[in-house]
Amino acid sequence: MDETALDSILEVQEAVEAPDDFVANAVVSNPAAQRASAAEDPEAIWEAAANELEWFRPWDTVFEGDPPDFSWFPGAQCNIVYNAIERHLLTWRRHKVALIWEGENGDHQAFTFAELAREVNLLASALRARGIGKGDRITLYMGVSPQLAIAMLASAKIGAIHSVVFGGFSADALRDRIQDAKAKALITADGAYYRGNVVPLKPAANAAADECPTLECVVVYQRCGVEVEMVDGRDIWWHDFVAGASTEAGTEVMEANDPLYILYTSGTTGRPKGIQHRHGGYMVGTYLTTKWVFDLKDTDLYWCVADMGWVTGHSYVVYGPLLNGATVFMAEGAPDYPDMGRWWRTIERYGINILYATPTAIRMFMRTGEEWPNRFDLSSLRLLGTVGEPINPEAWRWYDRVIGKGRCPIVDTWWQTETGSILITSLPAEPQKPGSAGLPFPGIEADVVDKQGNPCAPGEGGWLVIRRPWPSMLATIYGDHDRYVETYWTAVPGCYASGDAAVRDTDGYIRVLGRMDDVLNVAGHRLGTMEIESALVAHNAVAEAAVIGVADDLKGQVPKAFVILSAGMNASDTLSNELRDHVARTIGKIARPDSIEFVETLPKTRSGKIMRRLLKAKEAGQDIGDTSTLDPMSFADEEE
Ligand code: PRX
Repeated sequence: MDETALDSILEVQEAVEAPDDFVANAVVSNPAAQRASAAEDPEAIWEAAANELEWFRPWDTVFEGDPPDFSWFPGAQCNIVYNAIERHLLTWRRHKVALIWEGENGDHQAFTFAELAREVNLLASALRARGIGKGDRITLYMGVSPQLAIAMLASAKIGAIHSVVFGGFSADALRDRIQDAKAKALITADGAYYRGNVVPLKPAANAAADECPTLECVVVYQRCGVEVEMVDGRDIWWHDFVAGASTEAGTEVMEANDPLYILYTSGTTGRPKGIQHRHGGYMVGTYLTTKWVFDLKDTDLYWCVADMGWVTGHSYVVYGPLLNGATVFMAEGAPDYPDMGRWWRTIERYGINILYATPTAIRMFMRTGEEWPNRFDLSSLRLLGTVGEPINPEAWRWYDRVIGKGRCPIVDTWWQTETGSILITSLPAEPQKPGSAGLPFPGIEADVVDKQGNPCAPGEGGWLVIRRPWPSMLATIYGDHDRYVETYWTAVPGCYASGDAAVRDTDGYIRVLGRMDDVLNVAGHRLGTMEIESALVAHNAVAEAAVIGVADDLKGQVPKAFVILSAGMNASDTLSNELRDHVARTIGKIARPDSIEFVETLPKTRSGKIMRRLLKAKEAGQDIGDTSTLDPMSFADEEE
């Protein structure tokens, strides 16, 4: 965080009121009353939400435990899939459309809740018949498709733990995640369409699976009809796998704190963390936040543009909306293909009511001009959302004016893979301040504190922490509880440390500034600097590498690498491109450094740790002679 960032947040943003007719019809039309009752009894809000869902056995108490270990709804039994699908089958929603999907090539699929239940049951029965069940891990590596949602739901239904790996990750990244989870099955596809091409998923799945002895089967969904190599005895087409399977599949009775899924995310070491969520608390958190934050009504068509490979796709494409019985729209492909009108044409064609998008996409559309959105009828929209990175006030205002036509509240939602659901956002009926996520969700106690854990004054930047546990919080890091404790619960005693810097204004509105640690946020995607450095040093031309995030107008941040070459290697543009491609191959295209600077030395502490802070300061044009005044927001442990 540099000083310019700090200055910019101190600009006072005027609050934008929600339109009266929106407030009058909002799911939470009197947010002040909700906040007052949550302040009095924060757990009551979660318990009331839990009471709107179905449980096989009720809880003994809402939550118990002490930092860092909490259990939510202990004693209760449930299954998130029962609430996401089956309970709707007993109501008028049975034949309501649950999912509508548009492929990039114009393909179209739609499923009612009854149809979705059938597809989930077929896959669940087939998995069970293969001996896969409660507690087993299933890795999913697919493009955005109903089949990915079906695979997630089928896993959860049988009590298995899914681990979705973003389809843009490389074979190596996939292999590491399958190995860490010791997955028994991999579900993938032949490919997915992206910008007019087929992104082949099966070759990467094969390269990874070849090195994963725990895998007993690889199920392949035929999305594109491209030729793929199938390994005898291990690989099976999805349609053959489910052929003859039962359309009835019992729902596994889970303890509320049994694991639901693992999702890997970057941290400050080279090894991604398997964030582990659980059935009961995650279900309650995603259910309630979806309902209140997106003001979800049964008549809405809701579109969250996130890829299901990220947490947003888990909580706000699949689980949260389906728990609410909503109709979810999904689209394969890129926002700018075949042209800049893809999203706006889609909104017009389907009559989308709620759009949940990212600041990077909004900035991209802002750059290419309002002619594109203006060509389409966007009048069906009634609520807009943003997530993943800070949104600059200019982009917020453009989103409001050009897309929302000044009629749609914008919810800027702050949360993390670890938090499972949205923790900070003003509710849509409340005034919003452009560039600020706003107030904590009712029941959430967020704070901005200094290094000693003392609350910061308004306007003063500090650590963003959460003081009370919340239902959808991560349970642990898969297979590494010590790392969970160390990463989230040691910086500020008794509090969950988010790793973000934030500042609060006099109204209590929280503006999130970005990461405090060595984690980059590239277009809303988290990448660890160490992960990229490890990839670079694995190349024989590289002796040492340091990676930092540099500010980028479009993507928020992009990675920049400083590289010391191995003896005998010469710096060149060709080598620079080769190294950038090497990172893309090793991790995925999103990690490709924007630029590489070849250097003779890297600044290090006495114990040999690279001082990325100094590289960042130098990059920002600061004089690094006097290190004491640098980077006031950095509490990095690199100082000794
Ligand atoms: O730095 C914050 C940023 O994204 C990080 C979480 O990344 P991830 O776990 O991949 O989840 C992204 C989607 C929830 C946070 O630590 N971030 C997320 N939402 C916002 C944000 N920064 C500012 N404003 C937001 N609304």
